[in-house]
Amino acid sequence: MKLRRFTVVAVTAAAVAATLNVVPASAGHNSKPADQSLRALAARHNLYIGTAVDSAALNDPADPQYRKLVTQEFNTVTAENVMKWESLEPTRGQYNWGPADELIEFARKNKQLVRGHVLVWNNQLPAWLTEGVADGSISKTELREILKNHITTVVKHFKGKIWQWDVVNEAASDPWDSPSTIHYKGFWAQNLGEGYVADAFRWARAADPKALLFYNDYNLEAFGDRGPSDKVQFVYNMVKSLKAAGVPIDGVGSQGHLGTQYGNYDVFQVSDTLKAFTDLGLATAFTEVDVRSHTANIADSNELNPRLQASAYNHGVLLQACLSNPKCLSFTLWGVSDHHSWVPTWFDDPPEGLATVYDENYQPKKAYFELKGDLLFSGPPYVLPRVTQKPNKGR
Ligand code: XIL
Repeated sequence: MKLRRFTVVAVTAAAVAATLNVVPASAGHNSKPADQSLRALAARHNLYIGTAVDSAALNDPADPQYRKLVTQEFNTVTAENVMKWESLEPTRGQYNWGPADELIEFARKNKQLVRGHVLVWNNQLPAWLTEGVADGSISKTELREILKNHITTVVKHFKGKIWQWDVVNEAASDPWDSPSTIHYKGFWAQNLGEGYVADAFRWARAADPKALLFYNDYNLEAFGDRGPSDKVQFVYNMVKSLKAAGVPIDGVGSQGHLGTQYGNYDVFQVSDTLKAFTDLGLATAFTEVDVRSHTANIADSNELNPRLQASAYNHGVLLQACLSNPKCLSFTLWGVSDHHSWVPTWFDDPPEGLATVYDENYQPKKAYFELKGDLLFSGPPYVLPRVTQKPNKGR
């Protein structure tokens, strides 16, 4: 008995060592460990580190650094916009695959896995769809067929090329909505009822048996009081019942859009939350990480430094929590540099920014070095390589 136990431990340790040594410290890079790319360092943990890709920036001949960094630093990519419904099907029944196909080809050439984003969401829907429902020319029955058709067509088109799909995005309300009890919100729930969530996963699975299917949302980093206004608890209950009902869901994506003005999470809160999800048999991922700050009245470095430091710290909290859980498969940043970030456009009253790990001039910020240090200086026994998640067939 004793001997057997010892053997198991020894084999596990050897496997861990083997995985961690897959990328030698100097592989294809400068000899100093800190000169390695994020993707090389993440590969030691079998972790995929990614970014949202802005297709216009990727194809901008005046901006070669963008393409260079996406290639060099990341081993997974997400389309920031080009796989959203309004981009893929701007006119009913007429699909515009070009930009999304180009991104997939770019990823293939650069040995990057692709997160598909997004199949069902309340935002960035084409006008023909929302207006058709509003004016009654599209009935509820027809809407359900349209959704099924869209999911089936899109997932089949990209079949075999998508690692993880965000099947349903942002279905849950927020505590500041009315009523404050968390509920299914928005266009799809209002028109089809909450059953659309389970349907969407089943339709996606039927179209691609191998892609990992995720529920994705924001403000899922840490449980609150676990009461009726705790969004994490709502999502936890939802995915637990989806699994119990045999719905083919494989993971929960935590977007990770944080703001330094809200204070810091601690790494144990976040890793406990990931563990609650992975204890259900689901994988997790951080899917859209950025940490923004208020930018009005930043007169000098006295104002700037604390923001950069808090951003770095919170990037670190999320990455460390992810590393702590072998079922946290990927860590994706939402935008390469502050120049390309969605934050200044979307959070402008008061103005916010400084959310990514590279500044406006592609200089790496403290947050970049925080991520690098976390990847570099972690390993067994507390950090073990990621474990492959097998697609759930459902029943
Ligand atoms: C954002 C993009 O970054 C912007 O370019 C676009 O104008 C709006 O959408 N949650 C999501 C992402 O799931 O799709 C959003 O992306 C950011 C919030």
